[in-house]
Amino acid sequence: MCGIIGYIGSKPATPFLIEGLKRMEYRGYDSAGVAVCGGAEIITRRAAGKIARLEAAIAARPVVGTCGVGHTRWATHGPPTERNAHPHLSGDDSVAVVHNGIIENANALRALLREKGYEFRSDTDTEVLAHLVQELYEGSLEAAVLSALREVEGTYGLAVVSSRDPGKIVAARKGSPLLIGIGDGEHFIASDASAILAHTRQVVYLDEGDVAVITADGYRVLDVNALPLSRRVDQIDWDLGAIERGGYAHFMLKEIFEQPQTVENAMRGRVIADDGTSKLGGLNLSHDQLMAIDNIIITACGTSWHSALIGEMMIEELCRIPVEVEYASEFRYRNPIVTDRTLCIVISQSGETADTLAAMREAKRRGARTLGLVNVVGSTIAREDDGGIYLHAGPEIGVASTKAFTSQVVALALFTLKLARKRGLSVTRGIEIAHALAALPDQIRDVLSRADQMEQIAEEFKRAPNFLYLGRGVNFPVALEGALKLKEISYIHAEGYPAAEMKHGPIALIDEMMPVVFVAPHDAVFEKVVSNVQEVKARKGNIIAITSRDEPALAGLVDYEFRIPETVDLLTPVLASIPLQLLAYYIAVKRGANVDQPRNLAKSVTVE
Ligand code: AGP
Repeated sequence: MCGIIGYIGSKPATPFLIEGLKRMEYRGYDSAGVAVCGGAEIITRRAAGKIARLEAAIAARPVVGTCGVGHTRWATHGPPTERNAHPHLSGDDSVAVVHNGIIENANALRALLREKGYEFRSDTDTEVLAHLVQELYEGSLEAAVLSALREVEGTYGLAVVSSRDPGKIVAARKGSPLLIGIGDGEHFIASDASAILAHTRQVVYLDEGDVAVITADGYRVLDVNALPLSRRVDQIDWDLGAIERGGYAHFMLKEIFEQPQTVENAMRGRVIADDGTSKLGGLNLSHDQLMAIDNIIITACGTSWHSALIGEMMIEELCRIPVEVEYASEFRYRNPIVTDRTLCIVISQSGETADTLAAMREAKRRGARTLGLVNVVGSTIAREDDGGIYLHAGPEIGVASTKAFTSQVVALALFTLKLARKRGLSVTRGIEIAHALAALPDQIRDVLSRADQMEQIAEEFKRAPNFLYLGRGVNFPVALEGALKLKEISYIHAEGYPAAEMKHGPIALIDEMMPVVFVAPHDAVFEKVVSNVQEVKARKGNIIAITSRDEPALAGLVDYEFRIPETVDLLTPVLASIPLQLLAYYIAVKRGANVDQPRNLAKSVTVE
């Protein structure tokens, strides 16, 4: 997704801008640029492709100044070319804008501005903002920006500089995150804390509708009517090391191997083993409110939607409350049944996924209480939900979500445990689950200690054109997740299916060329899965089984087997998903794919 960085202080701005843009490369982008205020004019340098090309352009023609903004763009309007790269300049080159989000009425504004003689040099919606600010400028940049935003429909995180009102950056946020970094005699604006963490840990997260005026010596936050607002200063508590690769070949591999710690972090201080329950500080739901819930909706996208499916089975089995899992993109556009006794659980690693954010807002509008399971602290979903459970997984840099998924499943288990124990689950059963949760980190270490087995299997199947993943019960979503991991980083077509459902169509695909991954731990439906394994074997399918003990029933049926430790059925997804993460990772590496930044994908999809 797009990244924004701005610097204003007493030092040259360009190095800060380039460094910040590099820290945000993981978000996915296809062009980049900077605008620096150098005396009486604004100088821009932009380039399609990677930041290295922008650096070359700057090396060829340096830009000097102590105030500037930078941007990495993930194309939404117009192809990823230099012409469309941000920053965009106003007609008289006095205003430069970088922007995340979508200006939905850009065409109407473009027509109005053309009538006033403005000429457009790009295909982007953002350029409209630059001309509009110029058009409405009457001596104050922030006043011009506020006037312009009153004309705008859509979403934005933006930063604006002007040669007519130098010495300040004006920033505004509506639907796309922005934060101010506080320095000594210098200040920053950024869409992602990692862009400025090398320089400050003191940040101010802007709220929806905020406009900020940032100078070298300070900042002011205003509302849409230019009235001053006070905003809390937060301290960032993770360090750059957390977003460096730490010796691993890829961020994704690092994050797979972080899972013993991240699962531990997700549970830290939250498991009350002796009572078989959990303690969740941010739930913001009283006992009575919890007891009043008579239906739950879980909404999310992608991998987070897969953990939602697992949450559905956990909650229905242990809490006996009906749960609906909804694709966020579907939920927001249909007429869902939501009452004031509905709890809407919103799952999002980034906390910025546009569809998920919109679905949460729609659920709130219809009267539901919302509970966010989010990883990124201070993200929009985390700031707008009624209560939350942070995943504490640390920054997830690899586009393919791994540690966030297992932490989501753990967070759902913690919530389920708390609610279930209030609604009749026995203390004995609760203690059993609590102990199983506590055992997970070491069990994950055991799985990871045998990662080489998955690398060997990956070697066998790295050229397969298709894969089928099959599972039942809580491991059907694991089959979906395993298929998603493989397809999104290796570009091999892969499909997840309920194991029994395979007979109703996909079985036609089975032959000796089709690798079939069975997620088959020894759980309540294991014998049923064995029947499905036999059906595939009878058709010469290549079978890879993720199972949990030496199973005579599988002897002679499977071609490759990976054992996971045993745990309570509802928690098997935490362990079963990890070998599938490794399988996808090793196949992708062997195919020479860009594992951390797969083509066409972004880490956070902040557009519809
Ligand atoms: C998962 O590997 C993908 N990168 C993608 O499906 C992701 O899970 C989805 O975009 C949702 O992101 P979120 O959890 O940040 O909302």
